[in-house]
Amino acid sequence: MKKYLVIGNPIKHSLSPKLHNYWFKKYNLSNHNYDKRKVTEDDLKKVILEIKNDKLAGLNITVPFKRSIIPFCDILDKTAEDLRSVNTISKKNGKIIGWNTDSLGFLDCLKASNIMDEKKSVFILGAGGVTSAVLDALWGFGSKQIYLSNRTKDKAIELKNMFKDKFDKIEILNWEEKPKKKCGIVINTTSMGLAKTDLINIDFNEYENKKSNQEKSIFIDLIYSQKTNFLKAAEKRGNLAIDGKIMFLGQAKYSFNIWTNILPKIDTNTLELFKND
Ligand SMILES: NC(=O)c1ccc[n+]([C@@H]2O[C@H](COP(=O)([O-])OP(=O)(O)OC[C@H]3O[C@@H](n4cnc5c(N)ncnc54)[C@H](OP(=O)(O)O)[C@@H]3O)[C@@H](O)[C@H]2O)c1
Repeated sequence: MKKYLVIGNPIKHSLSPKLHNYWFKKYNLSNHNYDKRKVTEDDLKKVILEIKNDKLAGLNITVPFKRSIIPFCDILDKTAEDLRSVNTISKKNGKIIGWNTDSLGFLDCLKASNIMDEKKSVFILGAGGVTSAVLDALWGFGSKQIYLSNRTKDKAIELKNMFKDKFDKIEILNWEEKPKKKCGIVINTTSMGLAKTDLINIDFNEYENKKSNQEKSIFIDLIYSQKTNFLKAAEKRGNLAIDGKIMFLGQAKYSFNIWTNILPKIDTNTLELFKND
């Protein structure tokens, strides 16, 4: 049996097992199985050992270990190395390989929602493991102006340094401070929203789009497991509200491809799987 895991903390919300087990069945990989496991930082070494000993065939990494897993990898693919973030682990010739498929997943989301216009400035909340992938995808679309607000300011500064040559402007704001000028796109990349009571205390009232002929501001939340308060408020204001489902399906599809050489189709049956989630 080839066993795969998604590891993280929290992990209860993860729909990765449901999706990957559906694909294993669909593509007749009956000897493959995917599960989730809550881990702590201290468990990472042990989990990697399970791959080395062939007890596990591959991993997905989620909150908050995308950065801290890196020292356990023997090789990083170029995207993971550039973005300093790993969400997928495979093994080849005894070597542990770290990959990043989040950037391609977020590109899928931007393409599918057809919202990108390089003139739109982007306000990003968060500077965690996934935010570099979001910046990478935005850069791919020609975005020029980025505003970044994170609770731990140093992490936002680190991201600014990583991307300073790729954008015309990256301005760092205090946590829960917003840009003086309205942005075309606002993205929540924090984990604030995984708990139903999580609230980001920013007043976006001036983003209200109640008139039908008005261009709509776009609010994206990477969280896919439930509609967050951030997106509920955006819908109330009449904004275009996009959750993390398409990104989730995209990053999963590319991980699946790394492990099996099969690139699954995201068809209506796949979307149907998550209708009630
Ligand atoms: N749709 C998808 O496919 C997809 C893919 C990847 C990630 N995600 C989602 O994206 C989110 C972030 O993932 P990640 O891997 O970047 O996680 P991470 O590395 O743990 O980063 C967490 C981020 O949330 C912020 N944060 C956490 N608690 C906070 C609080 N109480 N107040 C203010 N800020 C807080 C952190 O700020 P500090 O830096 O100050 O700690 C950091 O910016 C998660 O919800 C994850 O589920 C979705």
